[in-house]
Amino acid sequence: MSGDIQSLIDSLVKDVERHQDLYYKRAMPEISDMEYDAMFNRLLELEKKYPQYARQDSPTKRVGSDLDNKFPEVSHPVPMLSLDKLYVPEELEEWVGKIERDNEEELSLLVEEKVDGSTIVLHYEAGFLVRAVTRGDGYTGNDITENVRTIRDIPLSLPEPVTAVFRGEIYINIDDFNALNKDKENIYANPRNFSAGCLRRKKSSEVSGIPLRSFVYEWFSGKRQEGGPGPGSAVPPDGGHSGLHIEVLHRMTQLGFNVWPDIGFFSSPLVQEKYEEMFKAHPGWVRRSLSDISDYIDRKMGKRESLGYEIDGLVVKVNDYKTRIKMGHTSHHPRWAIAFKFKAPQAVSKIQCIETQVGRTGRVTPVARIEPVRISGSTVSNVTLHNQDYCTSLDIAVGDVVAVSRRGDVIPAVEEVLEKNEKGNKTYLINRNCPSCGTALVPDGAHIFCPNSNCPARVFGRISFFTSRGQMDIENLGSETIKRLMELGLIADIPDIYYFDPDALLGVEGFGEKKIQLIKDGIKRSKKKPYDVVLASLGLDDIGPKAVELLIDDGYGSIDVLLDAAGQKNMEIFTGIHGIGPRTAEKIIHQLNDPAVQNMIRKLKAAGLNFSYERGRDEAVRQVFSGEVWCVTGSFENFKPRELAMEEVKKRGGRVTSNITGKTTHLLAGINPGGKLAKAKKSGALVVVEEEFLKRIGNYAAPSGEKQQ
Ligand code: IVH
Repeated sequence: MSGDIQSLIDSLVKDVERHQDLYYKRAMPEISDMEYDAMFNRLLELEKKYPQYARQDSPTKRVGSDLDNKFPEVSHPVPMLSLDKLYVPEELEEWVGKIERDNEEELSLLVEEKVDGSTIVLHYEAGFLVRAVTRGDGYTGNDITENVRTIRDIPLSLPEPVTAVFRGEIYINIDDFNALNKDKENIYANPRNFSAGCLRRKKSSEVSGIPLRSFVYEWFSGKRQEGGPGPGSAVPPDGGHSGLHIEVLHRMTQLGFNVWPDIGFFSSPLVQEKYEEMFKAHPGWVRRSLSDISDYIDRKMGKRESLGYEIDGLVVKVNDYKTRIKMGHTSHHPRWAIAFKFKAPQAVSKIQCIETQVGRTGRVTPVARIEPVRISGSTVSNVTLHNQDYCTSLDIAVGDVVAVSRRGDVIPAVEEVLEKNEKGNKTYLINRNCPSCGTALVPDGAHIFCPNSNCPARVFGRISFFTSRGQMDIENLGSETIKRLMELGLIADIPDIYYFDPDALLGVEGFGEKKIQLIKDGIKRSKKKPYDVVLASLGLDDIGPKAVELLIDDGYGSIDVLLDAAGQKNMEIFTGIHGIGPRTAEKIIHQLNDPAVQNMIRKLKAAGLNFSYERGRDEAVRQVFSGEVWCVTGSFENFKPRELAMEEVKKRGGRVTSNITGKTTHLLAGINPGGKLAKAKKSGALVVVEEEFLKRIGNYAAPSGEKQQ
């Protein structure tokens, strides 16, 4: 019986592997997805029923588990040093020249890619993958075996009972990164940060769906080298070959690892002849003489864009392990290899401290304050670190020296930690309690939240959001003023904006009569904002402009109708609206039944805000200019005086300034625009003429009542 089960399991394993190979590698499946799933599930069932016969290299291991990983620390058998770096080709020639001078043996070198991913150390025992460890600090890393097992191109078992340690890099293709990062609000600056984040996921089942890939580039003996060559040196593998890296790479492909399909091998022609057969097996590998190395690197750099994954340089390595051992290492890097980097980091800075910010939704975001550095024309001193996963993937701590980038005009990002701090500060961990109100934080998805809706930081965020541009747009009630008003005890939540007496500010530093009048005007004007803007400005979770539009289009054109619907607590009422999913439906119901929210709405309604949508009136004033800053110059046919055009901009959520400043986004240019036209062109503001403007505002009716074109 037992033998039967074992052989049944063995044969299922074989079949599943064959079909996986046909599907994933060759893209020519022989059976339907359903048949495959049935076969796979059969195997899963058997393994569950007879765990004693389950094989540790079973393909079911790639599915991952829903249990939380602990990532225990493990020490590396051979410390993981860094690579020394060069940036200019002449330096590389010097480096090669020096090795030739210092060594009598004939030199041969290899050039490999330096993929921008995460280092992985793979331990195999008797041919089975038993442990996969991160680089960590070079001496100890974290055991991420369960997550690594889900990566399809890392063999769970080898065709030979090899006991050894392999090093490689885990990465993700650029296309896969772009597609998946989009789902994550594009928080990851680059594929490396993304794949590193995935590798640290707590649940391996979440890693299994991510198309991570690997390249394996070094083979180390698994044994600690007592009195041997020491850390970072290449220890000749005990895999039964001559101790030449080119042969090791070939052997690793035979064992089923992914090795780069194009590798450069540089040696005398005599040595190259020896490898006739081997190079036949690897059509992408090139053989050249040593003097061709710079030329090869040049061309390789040119081909960088077409690789499909990111590389940040090339690694030049000595082929012969005997020479490697003789050359040895420093405490930082081996002397037998060098990284030729394509580009120096954009800016280097130091993490001064990491603060947590709590937003209006309660989301807690760590922000690094760095020593100010200039990157592509502006000074950067704050960099968002998004969430805990992100900090963990960077392994970032206060005091670390970091590379900061700013790709295009996106927000600045920490690309990598260049040097760990010397004080021994550990990887940054978000506090368990809200920094503002002390409430215990709760995780939800990739983020962590303060659940207390009365948390001062949340209230402040909520009021600031409500008055901000694009929302209620109360011009003179910016964040700083709100902070003051809260400190003075004049406002404690959104509705207070409409109930406090601005005159109470008279005499307070920074508030003159003029400013107080502007605040009053701004508050008064905001009462004209249409219902859709009011509702979205409340800052309720998942009830943003998009959801509001869907609700109104579906007939929920007033708050009373909406509150009524939410009061029925029937999800289907909302999930029935195309575009609203269960998560949003639940949030709508939950929040609109919250007495605090209802109270807020009641007060705002009593203050005279619009809580119903009037087709015609409100449709004409969709906030098409929200976030834009306009300057109006010259005279117009339809807008006499031109202030009428300014009114149209403001009605639609835009701001108007009398002069062109760095913030001006548009110049509405009429007849005889004067000097502002040239100024706009210089500052990059978009010049719009009357005809285009009319098109953008749609159905404009001049105050005379005539319909204009
Ligand atoms: S050999 C003793 N070869 O670069 C160091 N490293 O700065 C031996 N890397 O984190 C490293 N591609 O993960 C080597 N072809 C390659 C590599 C490579 C990427 C990474 C490695 C390490 C970093 C060293």
